[in-house]
Amino acid sequence: MASRFGAAQVLVASNRGPVSYQVREDGSLHARRGGGGLVSGLSAIGPDAGALWVCSALGDGDREAVRRGVGEDGVRMLDVPADVHADAYNGIANSVLWFVHHMLYQTPLEPAFDAEFRRQWASYETYNRAFAEALAAEAAEGAAVLVQDYHLTLVPGMLRALRPDLRIGHFSHTPWAPVDYFRLLPDDIAEQVVRGMLGADRLGFLTRRWADAFTACCDAVAGGTGRVRIGVHGLGADAGFLRERAHRADVGERMAALRAEIGTDPGGRPRRTVVRVDRTELSKNIVRGLLAYRRLLTDRPEWRERVVHVAFAYPSRQDLAVYREYTAEVERVAREINGTFGTPGWTPVLLHVEDDFARSLAAYRLADVALVNPIRDGMNLVAKEVPVVSDEGCVLVLSREAGAFEELGPDALAVNPYDVTGTAAALHEALTTDPAERAARTGRLAAAATALPPERWFMEQLEALRG
Ligand code: G6P
Repeated sequence: MASRFGAAQVLVASNRGPVSYQVREDGSLHARRGGGGLVSGLSAIGPDAGALWVCSALGDGDREAVRRGVGEDGVRMLDVPADVHADAYNGIANSVLWFVHHMLYQTPLEPAFDAEFRRQWASYETYNRAFAEALAAEAAEGAAVLVQDYHLTLVPGMLRALRPDLRIGHFSHTPWAPVDYFRLLPDDIAEQVVRGMLGADRLGFLTRRWADAFTACCDAVAGGTGRVRIGVHGLGADAGFLRERAHRADVGERMAALRAEIGTDPGGRPRRTVVRVDRTELSKNIVRGLLAYRRLLTDRPEWRERVVHVAFAYPSRQDLAVYREYTAEVERVAREINGTFGTPGWTPVLLHVEDDFARSLAAYRLADVALVNPIRDGMNLVAKEVPVVSDEGCVLVLSREAGAFEELGPDALAVNPYDVTGTAAALHEALTTDPAERAARTGRLAAAATALPPERWFMEQLEALRG
């Protein structure tokens, strides 16, 4: 008799999967494999071990791949109707839950949870149910399921009801909101979110701070955390991958091109660099970073002609108007600084917006200062990657509101992300740190940044879930 269970022993569920497809002009499908911690973590288990990654079809290419039955071993894409996905992903996940956890609302006017929100919430439930049902169908008896992130908060509870035999984990890659802010959500929704997650056996967070905030929210809206176990796993950078990738020829070519763009100071020495690399994301605080740099050039004119702010801001969530407006604001402020301070031989801000990983690594290698100043951030892997690949040491100016600050704080220059003057002062201090001190700090930052590489981060959670 066929088993009423599926075959997968280990399952991962996330909105964005490890691969995406594009339809080429000739109608063929082109697969692109993504990077990131989860991808390398899951590859640690290997394809033979009965591991399955359940993710969502995101664009037309992915949907076409599902329709044609094209896919990779170990990956199952769910073709949730495009409008349901748009409501769940753009409407609820990115415009509500992301905003709550990163405290992004401009509260005099927003949020206003009305009928449209309720309609989108129903889609979020449908979307989560699609994942729960797929996981229930694919999982072997007693399998371990690792559900990822704020897109899928209801999955643990739904899956528990369908398959009480499973070991269910959930991991949050974002911060968790402080209780007063979390309670901006309508009471029934706040309760649904935490009860959904409490359906898991084990919940993971990137830092103790986010785990404690979650516990406080459970106490306030659900009378406690019940029988769930909570763990902290601070995802680290993948040193082996990064160092190898950062020394390939394409990165070398981009370093040469960047050096030419950056140019030399009036004394003929290479200009100093303040580097940042982000998705153009509201929480990354790119505009205040530019304002701090402008403040530096205003208050410390000795830096004019001698420093360049290399800012890579890659497009993100462009379906949302507020992200498009933020992108335009980043471009406007960068232009304004270049218009005010620039000279024929010196462009104070080099802003690049086309996503290019090799160029990001090139900038990491040559950075004198890395500026990582998010308003709030679950971890921030850029802060961990720069020290690992830096050629000659780099001073890290780091927001105390980034999860990475818990591990990197002692060797970084801490900033309050809202304090533009304070950030400008930190940039000056970073630019004047002596080279020996800078190299020593970078060594310690790299060690802290790689303490829990992606594979171990993943295996640690899997073992804790099974144990
Ligand atoms: C954050 C989230 C991830 C998400 C990523 C990129 O890091 O925690 O789940 O995948 O942002 O955002 P996107 O909306 O492009 O998937």
